[in-house]
Amino acid sequence: MRKKIVAGNWKMNTTLPEGIELAKAVAAKSAETPSSVDLIVAAPFTHLASIADLLKTSKVELAAQNCADHASGAYTGEVSADMLKSVSCKWVILGHSERRQYYGETDAKLVEKLKLALGAGLGVILCVGENLEEREAGKHFEVVGAQIKDVLYNFTAEDMKHIVVAYEPVWAIGTGKTATSDQAQEIHAFIRKALADKFGAAVAEDTTILYGGSCKPSNAKELFAQKDIDGGLIGGAALKAEDFIQIAKSY
Ligand code: PGA
Repeated sequence: MRKKIVAGNWKMNTTLPEGIELAKAVAAKSAETPSSVDLIVAAPFTHLASIADLLKTSKVELAAQNCADHASGAYTGEVSADMLKSVSCKWVILGHSERRQYYGETDAKLVEKLKLALGAGLGVILCVGENLEEREAGKHFEVVGAQIKDVLYNFTAEDMKHIVVAYEPVWAIGTGKTATSDQAQEIHAFIRKALADKFGAAVAEDTTILYGGSCKPSNAKELFAQKDIDGGLIGGAALKAEDFIQIAKSY
């Protein structure tokens, strides 16, 4: 059975004291969520070491929002996969559309990042998704299919045990506009098929595929009821512990 996951992506929000408060609140309420649902919070780099300690006694796992495409050395301002591992991160989000859009993250760079992250023993949440123009032109399958192939087809079935895919239509991120559950299900099934084509049906069946994009307490239940939607990557609603936990309780 593949894992159900609800992951919060805090993005560039919260000062350290605010982040600590949020982490404490999420950890405290995490016991209310079903044991079948794993919880992850992806905090800013500056918060990771402090938050790791706070989460230790809860079910909440820690993620970073990015890592470097080099192992170590003269790359000023970058944070390596090994560094994340050393502060007790279990996961790293890679290929978020904001990284692709504002920081020139390409699929080729993502392959390097994934190799380093997996090599460091981190799990990876790989984000894929089309923008509005691509959706309106009916190119979403083509775009998402290419992202899956160009990144994940460079890895093995064994690697896939440590990789979660997050489908996040760019037009739904932070816009309040959610994909309908049918739209999301359709593309999740397509992603699972693309994984089956390369890695076989068993690996595809075991891969967790999350939906992200204006997922909130009011729509999580309907989205999570879909056969191929295994949880969510939550942005805005993850900044309120209550909402985040409510989303996880939708299962
Ligand atoms: P949102 O962000 O929930 O605020 O739309 C989701 C994401 O970018 O991961």
